Amino acid sequence: MITQVVYVSRAVHPMGRGTDRDILRVARKRNAELGLTGFLFRTRTHYIQLLEGPPEAVGQVTESLRRDPRHTDFDVIRTMQADTRSFERFAMGYDDVLQMRAAAFIESLKSSAISDSSLRAHVELLAVGRRRKKAALAASLGQFVSGMTFSRRASRQ
Ligand SMILES: Cc1cc2nc3c(=O)[nH]c(=O)nc-3n(C[C@H](O)[C@H](O)[C@H](O)COP(=O)(O)O)c2cc1C
Repeated sequence: MITQVVYVSRAVHPMGRGTDRDILRVARKRNAELGLTGFLFRTRTHYIQLLEGPPEAVGQVTESLRRDPRHTDFDVIRTMQADTRSFERFAMGYDDVLQMRAAAFIESLKSSAISDSSLRAHVELLAVGRRRKKAALAASLGQFVSGMTFSRRASRQ
């Protein structure tokens, strides 16, 4: 059995100034040492994180998180027991999420009516959704770029 914690907090620093990079560098190293995995979502104003692994290790890092001055309004939404991990390949995945999507998402996560398994599925989908969109964007940009190469070549003939 592993423990999963999902929390929401308010970011102190704006995005893109290196804070998140610093957080991730330390987080990934410590998580790997402690056998923790998870995913960190960043909106313009908030963090949403799922942290999972052995109960003592999750508790230890949760205490560090609670004291960390880089975020405020630290609010644990749910602590769950699970048989399998949601993000076993990520020492700590990271992605940015649109503000509006995150606000709705946070509200749904906070609803006590939502079961552990659907809360888990919500978090997993948020991670997959973003990656798929990025992959689709990369693919269409690739087509656009190869289209440009094609038309340039065509105009030279
Ligand atoms: C949004 C956010 C997410 C974080 N995620 C992790 C994490 O997944 N694992 C981790 O070890 N530290 C994480 N940290 C850093 C911890 O708060 C803490 O600084 C670090 O673990 C070192 O612990 P210590 O200050 O108790 O020595 C995170 C910090 C923030 C602000």
